[in-house]
Amino acid sequence: MKKIALMAAALAALSTAAMAEGDIKAGKKVFKKCKACHSLKPADNKVGPTLYNIIDAASGANPDFRYSKAMAEAGLTWDVETLSAFLTKPKDVVPRTSMAFSGLKKPEQVDDLIAYLQSEMETE
Ligand code: HEC
Repeated sequence: MKKIALMAAALAALSTAAMAEGDIKAGKKVFKKCKACHSLKPADNKVGPTLYNIIDAASGANPDFRYSKAMAEAGLTWDVETLSAFLTKPKDVVPRTSMAFSGLKKPEQVDDLIAYLQSEMETE
């Protein structure tokens, strides 16, 4: 009996961990907030630079996009941690960015959106 209870507890812990990972479908919906300015296709810059393969990319590195001085000189890597902070409050991470977006209010929205961006990554 005790063993079963322990296993149930372990399973419950596992599923909470999975939930914290972010939901791709929900993230696709959150991306609607970005779509006016960003595409996920290669070389498709709009008001904002394309976010094609953005995870772990260097900040301000798109040669065909005119970044603000702040973004051009930020020297960041868009890993999950940096991207989460930026999407929560862009101006806390790149204070003088020209990205006119105040940030996502809920941590789940950030996790879901990043899960979606990860799912759209293309690797050779
Ligand atoms: C109103 C237009 C607009 C919206 C909405 C917007 N962005 Fe941006 N974004 C920009 C602009 C403009 C830049 C370039 C900023 C600069 O040069 O300072 C940018 C830059 C970025 C960068 C840095 C890219 C790079 O090449 O370094 C990321 C990442 C990013 N945006 C993600 C997002 C995500 C994800 C969303 C939705 C939650 C979003 N943005 C919403 C306009 C927008």
